[in-house]
Amino acid sequence: MKVLVVMAHPRRDSLTGQITDAVAAGLAEAGHEAEIADLYGEEFDPLIYPPDEPDWTREDKTYAESTQAEIARLQRNDGVILVFPIWWWSFPAIMKGWIDRVWNKDVAYGANTLNHKRALAIGMSASDAAQYAKRGYDEAMETEIVTGIFDFCGISDGRLEFLHGSTDGGERAVEMIAEAKGLGRSFADGL
Ligand SMILES: Cc1cc2nc3c(=O)[nH]c(=O)nc-3n(C[C@H](O)[C@H](O)[C@H](O)COP(=O)(O)O)c2cc1C
Repeated sequence: MKVLVVMAHPRRDSLTGQITDAVAAGLAEAGHEAEIADLYGEEFDPLIYPPDEPDWTREDKTYAESTQAEIARLQRNDGVILVFPIWWWSFPAIMKGWIDRVWNKDVAYGANTLNHKRALAIGMSASDAAQYAKRGYDEAMETEIVTGIFDFCGISDGRLEFLHGSTDGGERAVEMIAEAKGLGRSFADGL
C-alpha cells in the first residue's frame, strides 16, 4: 500500500519529524511504501488565493498548478497519515492550509471524494489525556478531523491518535517514537 505521510513542523529534526520518520519506518517494516510530505521543508504556501477558491456554481474548476501537483501527490497514495504538533487544539496553520487548498471542492468533496482506504491523524500534545477529557478537546478534535474532514471527504475509515507528553523529553520521547513506529506498522492492518 502507498501511504502519504504529511508532516507540519518548522524543524525537520523536531520530535514531530522523528515521529514522522518512525511512522514511515513502521510502514516500511509492514511492507508498505511511505511518501513523506514535509510542508515547511517544501515551503508550502497555506494561503488560498482566487485560483484555489472553490467555485460553488460549477464542478470543473481547474486549480492553481501548485495545487494540482499536491492533489496528484495525494491521489497517487492509497492511505494518508497526518503528523503534527497540536497548536491551539488543532493543526498548525500550514497543515490547515494544505487541507484548505488541496482537499478542495470536486476533488475531496462535492462532485468527487477521495478514494483513500484509510486515514490517520497523529496529534502530538504537551498536555495529558486527562486535561483533554476535562475540557472536551479530545472529542472536539475527533469531530473536527475524523467526521468533519476524513469522513466528509469520503474516507470512512479514519481515526485520530494523540501522543501525549510531547514536551516531557527523555524517556517519554523514546516511548512516543516507539508508539509511532507501531502506528505505522499497524496502519494497513485488515485492509
Ligand atoms: C503555538 C503553539 C500552540 C500550542 N498549543 C497546544 C495545545 O493547544 N495543546 C497542547 O497540548 N499543546 C500545545 N502546544 C504544545 C505543542 O503541542 C508541543 O510543543 C509539541 O507537540 C512538541 O513537539 P515538537 O518538539 O515536535 O515541537 C502548543 C505549542 C505551540 C508552539
